[in-house]
Amino acid sequence: MSTTDKGTALITGASAGIGAIYADRLAKRGYDLILVARDKTRLTGLAQRLRSSTGRSVDTLAADLNDKTDLAKVEAILRANADITLLVNNAGVGATAPLLNADVEKMDDMIHLNVGALTRLTYAAAPGFVTRGRGTIINISSIVAISPETLNGVYGGSKAFVLAFSLSLHHELAEKGVRVQAVLPGATATDFWDVAGVPLHHLPAAIVMSAGDMVDAALTGLDQGEVVTIPSLADKVDWDSYETARRTMSGKLSSAVPAPRYRVGAFAASKAAVASAK
Ligand SMILES: NC(=O)c1ccc[n+]([C@@H]2O[C@H](COP(=O)([O-])OP(=O)(O)OC[C@H]3O[C@@H](n4cnc5c(N)ncnc54)[C@H](OP(=O)(O)O)[C@@H]3O)[C@@H](O)[C@H]2O)c1
Repeated sequence: MSTTDKGTALITGASAGIGAIYADRLAKRGYDLILVARDKTRLTGLAQRLRSSTGRSVDTLAADLNDKTDLAKVEAILRANADITLLVNNAGVGATAPLLNADVEKMDDMIHLNVGALTRLTYAAAPGFVTRGRGTIINISSIVAISPETLNGVYGGSKAFVLAFSLSLHHELAEKGVRVQAVLPGATATDFWDVAGVPLHHLPAAIVMSAGDMVDAALTGLDQGEVVTIPSLADKVDWDSYETARRTMSGKLSSAVPAPRYRVGAFAASKAAVASAK
């Protein structure tokens, strides 16, 4: 039984980096917590600190989300515990290696964690949120979701999935009382970079945000009702015009006939027209 009106937040990847900051900020906002990650020692230490500094109830679950049995345990908690009002799908890994230098087994593991686990946990949490008419899902995507040329393409693809999935979830669940937010951090100062293969100090300081500032900005975006929050993007109008262009185009993407430029003979005709104009 949650000890607070806010209910309980389940945070994946809570042992370090962005997830540990979410744990701190959400406890301070009055949530009880369930912290999930592989490193039991780090989870236990964080839980003790947060219990004594905030007085909140903090449980931990050591689980490898790439392990089917462990993942099933987290799914079972999300299905059974009606006190859970907030799921933060944060656990994830990245890579910086280009395709030809990347190990496909590692890429596959990344897809399982960044896409597979996030999807299964969402499927476990969402029905209860809908039944209770209350719940929030925060999905940690990345700016590479809309800039896949920036890092490894499988990482970018996995985060594009998170963005598309979140937009669709919002479309389907907003009217059922479920809030969905996709957060697209830029470079953030965590262990992510060492794990991904580029030490943080190789990045220009001007493009790296602290994890504290990133999470505070993301929670401010949540408070403002945003579905997509890009903490580093100075001008919101840039996202709004990108999104407006996407939505305008989406009404034109299916047709019984090919576009005129793809009709048989159209390409040869246009080449001939260009040649005769020279
Ligand atoms: N840092 C950035 O520049 C940046 C930018 C954009 C998006 N993001 C995204 O932000 C999220 C958090 O990353 P971070 O920057 O905080 O990195 P981090 O400091 O490396 O933290 C990653 C967290 O995920 C957990 N984790 C990793 N593999 C796991 C697994 N198989 N099962 C369960 N938990 C696992 C780690 O804990 P254990 O090792 O204890 O399991 C850790 O708590 C990720 O989804 C990442 O893609 C980061």
